[in-house]
This record gives sequence, C-alpha cells and structure tokens, in this order.
Amino acid sequence: PGDRLVVAIDGPAAAGKTTVASAAARRLDALFFDTGVIYRALTLAALRHGVAPEDGLRLAGLARHLDIQVKPPSQPDGRFYDVWLEGEDVTQQLRDPEVDRAVSAVSAHPAVRRALLDVQRRIARSGRVVLTGRDIGTVVVPDADVKIWLDASLEERARRRQRDLAAQGIERSLDEVMEEMERRDRADAERAIAPMKPAKDAVVIVTDGRSVEEVVEEIVRLAGGG
Ligand code: CDP
Ligand code: CDP
Repeated sequence: PGDRLVVAIDGPAAAGKTTVASAAARRLDALFFDTGVIYRALTLAALRHGVAPEDGLRLAGLARHLDIQVKPPSQPDGRFYDVWLEGEDVTQQLRDPEVDRAVSAVSAHPAVRRALLDVQRRIARSGRVVLTGRDIGTVVVPDADVKIWLDASLEERARRRQRDLAAQGIERSLDEVMEEMERRDRADAERAIAPMKPAKDAVVIVTDGRSVEEVVEEIVRLAGGG
C-alpha cells in the first residue's frame, strides 16, 4: 500500500458509516476514525459539568481542554473505539439517549467546530485513514482521495439502530428511535456551519437492501484496494 490515503465517509445516522468504514479500513491497511465520537464525548462532558447545549462559549472552552483519549477497540469485532473521558472509560455512555438528544445542538456552534477541527485534521494527515462523520468530505478533508456519501431510508436506518441498541440491552420503540433520528438528521443538515451534506464530488451509496460486504467491497475498489 502507498503511504497516504484519505477516505472520507459522511452520511446520516445509522447509514452504516462505522460498520462499513472499520471493515474497509482493515482491508485497506488504514486507520479508522469516527469523528462523531469527539462530538459525543464533548456532549457527555457538557452534561456532566452542567454546561447547557446552548452555551457555545463555555462549550468551546470545554472542547479546547477536553481530556479525551481514543484507544483501538478492545472488542474483537473491532467496530468501536474505546473512548476515555477524564480518565474514565465512557465508551458505553456515548450512546446514552441524553447524549443523542443534545449532541446536535452542541455540534452546531461555530466555536465548538473550530476548536475540534485541528485534531481531526491531524488524524487525517497521519497516513492511511478512513474517517467518518458529517462534514469530512466538505470541510475537514476537502481534498480527500475518495469521498463517499452513505445513505439509507429513514425507516431502514431506524430499524438498524433499534436492533443495535437492543443488542446492547437498550430497548426503545421503533417510533421513538425514528423520531429522534429524524430530528437529529434535520438539525445536522440545517445548521449554518458545516451542515451535513454530500460533497459535490462524493460517490453516493444507498445501502437499503445491500449487505455490509457488498458496500465494503465497493468502497475498497473506489480506494484502489482489494
Ligand atoms: O452514530 P451516529 O451516526 O448516530 O452519530 P455519530 O456519527 O456518532 O454523530 C453524532 C452527532 O455528532 C451527529 O448527529 C452530529 O450532530 C455530530 N457530528 C458532527 O456534527 N460532525 C461530524 N463530523 C461528526 C458528528
Ligand atoms: O455509523 P453509522 O451511524 O452510520 O451506522 P452504524 O453504527 O455502522 O450502524 C449501521 C447498522 O446497519 C449496523 O448494524 C450494520 O450491521 C447495519 N448495516 C450496514 O451498516 N450496512 C448495510 N449495507 C446493511 C446493514
């Protein structure tokens, strides 16, 4: 493999970004990093320190001093990184419903996004990487080698997320998951700064009815691997 490769994968919640990107990264001998983890960790820190999701100024301060460590996955499926916040393993807590509800508001502040940009760009420049998020192809790495917009219907995505949550012992109704997800997607797409949208030169992959393996294969091919 060559020495530099950046694959940017953006798209709405539960489109399959984490699943597909981690598998593609293994195939491409690249590092996988999910930028959503940073926004979730900041949101959890804000909830714990009593900082309101509307308070952009204090959130940006928190973001600049965020004591967050991201470690390669200890789980054998290798899908999720272990995330430590202020010395505590918070990997599970990042999926708390309170975090889901507040994360879009936290992420919409320009000062917050500015504070978190450098660390994401450092990771992007570190070698062979597959990055997932909402604005990777548009803002974080506009010169990425490959840009993917991963999507699926709202219903399909809600079913997937409900199933994944149930597997973690978190039971929520399909309606509840769908409503929450639609609200978060809308907030992410409508915010003024770095809104969630496909880059003009992104390859759009709609994953309804397609297997993970098929989608991974397509991305690996686009990245010149496999
Ligand atoms: O896993 P899921 O797709 O549900 O969410 P995530 O990727 O963990 O992202 C959580 C939230 O972080 C998103 O809804 C966005 O509000 C924010 N985010 C962002 O604004 N920009 C990114 N590059 C990644 C995440
Ligand atoms: O990271 P993101 O929020 O975009 O999605 P995820 O956390 O990877 O969840 C996607 C779910 O859909 C996982 O349970 C996958 O097994 C499943 N799935 C997929 O990712 N791709 C397909 N083509 C079909 C199913």
